[in-house]
Amino acid sequence: MNLSDTTRTRTSKPMFQYNISGPMTSIIVAIAENNAIGNKGELVYHIPADLKRFKALTIGHTVLMGRKTFQSLPKGALPNRRNIVLTRNEGLEFPGAERFSSMEEALSHCADNEHIFVIGGAEIYRQALPFADELLLTRIHATPECADTFFPEIRQSEWKQTSIQTFPADDSNPIAYSFISLIRKRWDKET
Ligand SMILES: NC(=O)c1ccc[n+]([C@@H]2O[C@H](COP(=O)([O-])OP(=O)(O)OC[C@H]3O[C@@H](n4cnc5c(N)ncnc54)[C@H](OP(=O)(O)O)[C@@H]3O)[C@@H](O)[C@H]2O)c1
Repeated sequence: MNLSDTTRTRTSKPMFQYNISGPMTSIIVAIAENNAIGNKGELVYHIPADLKRFKALTIGHTVLMGRKTFQSLPKGALPNRRNIVLTRNEGLEFPGAERFSSMEEALSHCADNEHIFVIGGAEIYRQALPFADELLLTRIHATPECADTFFPEIRQSEWKQTSIQTFPADDSNPIAYSFISLIRKRWDKET
């Protein structure tokens, strides 16, 4: 996949078909009302329903992440997924994951029919946002008191919302949240 190739026309619906050029790339993120995603190397909120959805969507596919996010995973590499970690430090090893030293290098090792889920953190989201096909947000309806890591600005003019499901807080999930899917407008000619 060529990173400069952001003007291609997709002919199929993201998430379901792959008769397109280059891998399908989805950004998946849990994001507070103020775009906070992390604090001191950890998530800002723990929403079990979000983790369940994350697993259901990513299982069997490729997850691409930054070194800090990999190191924040409680059990290391995510099982039943191809794990890709970006780092500029060639001395580091990531058990169960492949290491690449640039976004371009990582993408060049992905097949056209692969579905890549970019799973964070902020540095990686910032680099993937310009070429991502799809945003899968869990909007957590709260603003944390402490946060040091934020998702970049989402320009609404570039994205079309395709679905939203809102859930109230319950016994398992302490805060109300919405699952929101958006696809890039210029690749949405048929939907
Ligand atoms: N809410 C969510 O859904 C969510 C999801 C994921 C993470 N998070 C949170 O986000 C925070 C971590 O985010 P972060 O932005 O600090 O770190 P990060 O994006 O996970 O990792 C940054 C590191 O990735 C490597 N890197 C970045 N760009 C690279 C490139 N182009 N080529 C090679 N290596 C590259 C560098 O590693 P080296 O320094 O080793 O070179 C860099 O220090 C944590 O708090 C985490 O809990 C939240």
